[in-house]
Amino acid sequence: MNSPRYAIPGSTPAAVPAASVSAAPATAPTADPVAGARSVAEVLAGSQVEAVLAELDADLVGLRPVKARIRDIAALLVIDKLRGNLGLTSQAPSLHMCFSGNPGTGKTTVALRMAQILHRLGYVRKGHLVSVTRDDLVGQYIGHTAPKTKEVLKRAMGGVLFIDEAYYLYRPENERDYGQEAIEILLQVMENQRDDLVVILAGYKDRMDTFFQSNPGMSSRIAHHLDFPDYAVPELQQIAGQMLAQQNYRFGAGAAEAFERYLQLRLQQPHFANARSVRNALDRARLRQASRLFADRERRLTAEDLCTLATEDILGSRLFRAA
Ligand SMILES: Nc1ncnc2c1ncn2[C@@H]1O[C@H](COP(=O)(O)OP(=O)(O)OP(=O)(O)O)[C@@H](O)[C@H]1O
Ligand SMILES: [Mg+2]
Repeated sequence: MNSPRYAIPGSTPAAVPAASVSAAPATAPTADPVAGARSVAEVLAGSQVEAVLAELDADLVGLRPVKARIRDIAALLVIDKLRGNLGLTSQAPSLHMCFSGNPGTGKTTVALRMAQILHRLGYVRKGHLVSVTRDDLVGQYIGHTAPKTKEVLKRAMGGVLFIDEAYYLYRPENERDYGQEAIEILLQVMENQRDDLVVILAGYKDRMDTFFQSNPGMSSRIAHHLDFPDYAVPELQQIAGQMLAQQNYRFGAGAAEAFERYLQLRLQQPHFANARSVRNALDRARLRQASRLFADRERRLTAEDLCTLATEDILGSRLFRAA
């Protein structure tokens, strides 16, 4: 099988129309910026990958094992560049990945950074991320799935295709499920066009494991498995502080402690979604702060008033009433 059964038009660098090249980010290598590099430092300087890695470290709380794995992958790619520059040919490294973890653990956020790293090192032309779920790939009727999947692949070429809850593609209980068709097209493209498309499958770890057991073809094409652990309360607290600072808010006296108590309660509730739950809780606290300030018609509000989430804005949560 030398020629792919499913070739995605416009997917090989030679066939790229000028328009789509100019749409690429400013860092798009017109001439490969690291073509002459002989040292790791030269590759890093030419690609500015270190800046992305440093941002990843600074912007994301915790996630130590994930950050370490990303550094390892970056190292592999840098060395691969240096080998290529000396004419030591090798097959393009396989870069398809699986990000497993519970909701809100940062999978989508990290996938975006990964796309940037791959782009800066010249492994994908554009470095964009196309995020999809089963419904974007699989049709309802016979003959609808292949065009849908191919359309998504076409959009993702030159970047990263992120498939959230990828195991929904496989429904063994339904004998005539079209998901299998999408999987087969994906497998072909993951093999034949891996120099221009990186696929990241994401989802809960246990379901992902079951999916790989039933789909050995998919399993064998995934080179890197990254586990995203749940955050501990201190990490969630730090994430909250960071989210507030980004939006020019802060906890007033006692509010951080109240929020910690809120987190302890929220953790025991169903559908806890890590950092996403933190974001939602802070949004609701802002709503309560606004209502509180709104009620006081005559008072001249200072910047301090407008930026501060008070203890009562946190304690107003339903969770405290139930307790
Ligand atoms: N380690 C972190 N530090 C700071 N913010 C984080 C961190 N992890 C996640 N967030 C924030 O939490 C929110 C949810 O993260 P993200 O969407 O990446 O998670 P996810 O694992 O893809 O979740 P889902 O499974 O629900 O799609 C985002 O707003 C993101 O910025
Ligand atoms: Mg996500």
